[in-house]
Amino acid sequence: MDEDLFKRWVKLLEHRTGIVVPSTRRSFLLTNLRGRMREAGYTSFEVYYTDLQSGPKAAVEWATLVDRLTIHQTHFFRHQPSYDYVEKTWLTTRTAALSWDGSIHAWSVGCATGEEAYSLAMAIDRGLDVVPGRSYFGITATDVSQPALATGRAGRYPIARRSEIPDDLARRYIKGLDHQSFEIDERLRRRVAFSVFNLLDLSRAPVKEIDLIFCQNVLIYFPRERRLEMLAGFASLLKPGGVMILGPGEVTQWSYPGLERVSNRQVLAYRRLDDPRPSLDSV
Ligand SMILES: C[S@@+](CC[C@H](N)C(=O)[O-])C[C@H]1O[C@@H](n2cnc3c(N)ncnc32)[C@H](O)[C@@H]1O
Repeated sequence: MDEDLFKRWVKLLEHRTGIVVPSTRRSFLLTNLRGRMREAGYTSFEVYYTDLQSGPKAAVEWATLVDRLTIHQTHFFRHQPSYDYVEKTWLTTRTAALSWDGSIHAWSVGCATGEEAYSLAMAIDRGLDVVPGRSYFGITATDVSQPALATGRAGRYPIARRSEIPDDLARRYIKGLDHQSFEIDERLRRRVAFSVFNLLDLSRAPVKEIDLIFCQNVLIYFPRERRLEMLAGFASLLKPGGVMILGPGEVTQWSYPGLERVSNRQVLAYRRLDDPRPSLDSV
């Protein structure tokens, strides 16, 4: 691939996915492109580039390629302090607020194969046990990768991943299928709706008035300017009293009108103000 074509590929990917491929990652791009082209029967980068944008199967092929170029590494309870904060601190504050309407709507942004969304569902479901009265919660889980979402929807994982889930939660929320896999309990699966969504299109987010935005290990793939735009977009979708939880260190020296940084050393979270009652965990 000559330099001109390489630049055109980089531009196309950045424009449509936000993925930035610096020249130091040229071989990453070439290896993944070659792999997919071989499967799809292409021998020319130029022809593949053109067909991807206008050929009869362009949309399907684009989705497959994006899946190859994105990193879906994830775990259940990947950053345990964030889940502890949701269950033991934020949920207590939130459900005690006079303005609370009895429901929690959470968004797992860049959910990959669903482990993050199910971890959140377990933490919230257990956290709501101790809340008096009727309560309801639902989670929207989005990603740009269709195959990753399909795994999340199925809710089945290899048995080796079982150890990522604390025993008490595993006993309650998963069931073994066979010696090789386990399944998330159906009651919990019904709480999570998976849908495809490209973060570059935040104005068309499939959610609004959200109580909890959970976005970890996603922003790191975008340049700082783009990250800041996304954070501002998230902030506008939060309900008063709602919280946005990022991965530790994913943004530094950021503030936004109407949001306060949660005072918890292990967790990077911002809460939307205007809750009528003082917050419990910031005093
Ligand atoms: C490393 S995984 C993180 C998964 C999970 N949040 C976690 O922390 O374990 C990053 C995910 O972000 C998704 N992603 C990358 N670019 C995206 C975009 N433009 N829109 C939506 N999702 C995107 C990838 O497909 C991938 O599944």
